[in-house]
Parts: sequence; C-alpha cells; structure tokens
Amino acid sequence: MCKDNEPQNHYQFGDYKMNTVSPCATPAPTDAIAGDLQNASLHPAPSEAAPAAPPSVPPPVVLLQMATGYWVTQSIAVAAQLSIADHIKETPKTAVELAEATGTHAPSLYRLLRFLASTGIFVEDENGRFALTPVAELLRSDVPGSMRDFTILMGHETHWNAWGNFMHSIQTGEPAFDNVFGMGFFEYCPLHPDASEVFNRAMTSLATQTHAAAAAAYDFSGINTLMDVGGGHGALLSSILKSNPHMRGIVFDLAHVVAGAPKTFEQWGVADRCRTEGGDFFEAMPAGADACILSMVIHDWSDDLSLKILQNCHRALPENGKLLLIETVVPEGNTPSASKGLDLNMLVMTNGGRERTAEEFDALFRKAGFELTRILPTQSPMSVIEGVKI
Ligand SMILES: C[S@@+](CC[C@H](N)C(=O)[O-])C[C@H]1O[C@@H](n2cnc3c(N)ncnc32)[C@H](O)[C@@H]1O
Repeated sequence: MCKDNEPQNHYQFGDYKMNTVSPCATPAPTDAIAGDLQNASLHPAPSEAAPAAPPSVPPPVVLLQMATGYWVTQSIAVAAQLSIADHIKETPKTAVELAEATGTHAPSLYRLLRFLASTGIFVEDENGRFALTPVAELLRSDVPGSMRDFTILMGHETHWNAWGNFMHSIQTGEPAFDNVFGMGFFEYCPLHPDASEVFNRAMTSLATQTHAAAAAAYDFSGINTLMDVGGGHGALLSSILKSNPHMRGIVFDLAHVVAGAPKTFEQWGVADRCRTEGGDFFEAMPAGADACILSMVIHDWSDDLSLKILQNCHRALPENGKLLLIETVVPEGNTPSASKGLDLNMLVMTNGGRERTAEEFDALFRKAGFELTRILPTQSPMSVIEGVKI
C-alpha cells in the first residue's frame, strides 16, 4: 500500500510546507497509539513546541493548521459515518466506487478523501484509488481499538453545536451545551436515544482503547468483586474481568444505559461473572463490591457533586474498600497534556465538570473519607488514582 520512497504529506501555505504524519511512517498497534497519546497535546505551548517543529516551519503555518483543525474534525467524522475505511479495508477504491457504495456525490467525496489523504489519513494511488494508512485502520469498525465511534461523536451535533457556542462558557463559566440545548447533557441523552447511542458507543470505543491501557497498568489480584460506577455499556469492566478470571463484576449506571451492557458481557465471554444494576449515583449504589472503579466519571461533575458520588461509594464499600479512578491528571505549568484540552471539553459539555490536578484529587478523596494512596501513570492519557476507605 505504501512505498518506501513515498513523499511525506504536508500542508502548503505560500512558499512554506509543513510536514505532517507520514502514512507510511509507523505501524499503529493499539499500544503505540496509546503511548503516543501519553504526552500528546494538540496545542503545545510555544516553548514546548519549538524544539519539535522543523526550523523551516513559520508561525503562520503552525497557526493555520491549528485554526483550521475543525476542517479535519468534520472530515474525519463524515468519513467515519460513511464507513469509508470499512469499504476499502480489502481493496483500494476510487471516489466514484465509494460514492456509489455510500450514496454520496462522487466529486465532493473525492475532495474529502483528497484532503484526508493530505493529512495522513488514507492514501491515493496513481489510479485515483484510496487505501488505508495505519491511522485510517483505526477508522474501521471491526478492529480491536477502533476509534471510529469516538471520531463520529466529535463531529456530532451535541459536541459540535455546543463547541460552536464556546464563548458562552468563557464569558459565564456555564456549560455551552446547556445554553444551546436548553438542558444538561445527561438530561438530554435519555430524551434523545440516537444521541445517547452515539455517546455510549464513543465511550465504549475509548474504553477499549485508552481506558483498557490504564486498567492494564493496575494489579487487580486482591479484588474479588469490582463495581464499575458509571460504567456505561461495561466495556472497561469486561476487559478487566477477562484478564482477571477470579473476579466478579457489577456495572452500575442509569437504567437506560446499563440495558446495553449484557451484550458487551457476552462479546467478552464474561456474562457468567458480571451483572448490571440500574440507578442514580447521587442517590445510592448497591453494596457487595470490595472495590469501586470510576472511569471518566468524576471529571463530569463539580467538586460538590463529585463528593456526593464518592461519599456514596464510601457507603457502599466495606472497611478498607478500594476506590479507583481512571482520569487524566493535569500537570503543572506548560507541560503538554491531553488533559488540558479535555478540561475545556468538560467546561463546554458539563455543569462544573473539569480535569483535576493531583492536589485536587487528594483534597476530594480526603473529604469523601478516602486516603489517596498512589497515582499510577499509564501508557494512555489516563492515570489510575487509587484510594483506600478510612
Ligand atoms: C463519561 S461517561 C463514562 C463511561 C464509562 N465509565 C467509560 O469510561 O467509558 C459517564 C457515565 O456516567 C453515567 N451517569 C451519568 N449520570 C449518572 C447518574 N446520575 N447515575 C449513574 N450513572 C450516571 C453516564 O450514563 C455515563 O455512562
């Protein structure tokens, strides 16, 4: 598919060229992608970014690429929705063939694919046929670690329209989502099953990609029953149970969400050790687990509401019960980190949600009656933050 002498892709701006990822450069196993994400920042501070950029790249090109990032976001999301990567997984195809298969306008589809090929996603051969690059492999729906559903969410109207109203959040500190849609995201989802499905599938996609890398970094051998609080469709818990055959599990989430979990248990072959409990984590959660894991849950909520969730975990856990959070930890200063962009997403999408520093997690744990015992960085942007009930 890729030839050794193939040129690096680049954007061109006036006389300047800026190298982007070569589609041929690196194979993309899940671990490698997760590893790259660990220190990834799409918007590194100038002092950090300077050494990484070729000296010939002038500031206007850097800014042009960053400011037009939404072209890339929507292009990837549309290609993902059209399942382009699935259509070319075995044989490269022309835009005309793909337009026929996807019911789209061939000349426009060609322009989309040409643009994505210029960014390192897809590659066009001399016969005008488009093929997969290692990055595009992750847009297939049938590969382990597929990120297709996550890229669809990034272009979906819930996120897209809310981010279009970003200024509202900066001016008021309020979620732009609520201002656009007239209610909170988690109130909106049950009323809009299609949007809810897009979100839950994206979360599952993340869980199998980056969260599982985080979970792999932790030794679960001392835990007999693990409750995944806000566990969505159960992908994270299933992957943990798969590699810990002694363990049983409970997925706790809103009733309409956990309804989708048994299918995941079946897929992972853990249905005989796993059950669901529908409920509201601000009210109470069931007893019976010796550890609670919460992955990307606390970052959705303000300190006050996070405290309620953690206090309910505290009530549900036995003495010395363990609390495990899978979250990003915001580093000090200008250090590049995916957590800083994700933090803005929380500002836009949630009422009081945020990414937190180690000190902020420590304070939250203490107030909820846990001692923060360690923070384990992983090969993904997530860390495992461990606490013990005191
Ligand atoms: C950002 S998602 C994280 C999902 C999953 N833990 C993961 O990492 O993929 C937050 C989860 O919290 C759940 N949730 C929101 N409000 C809830 C509530 N009041 N009670 C229980 N679960 C809730 C959502 O349904 C969703 O599954």
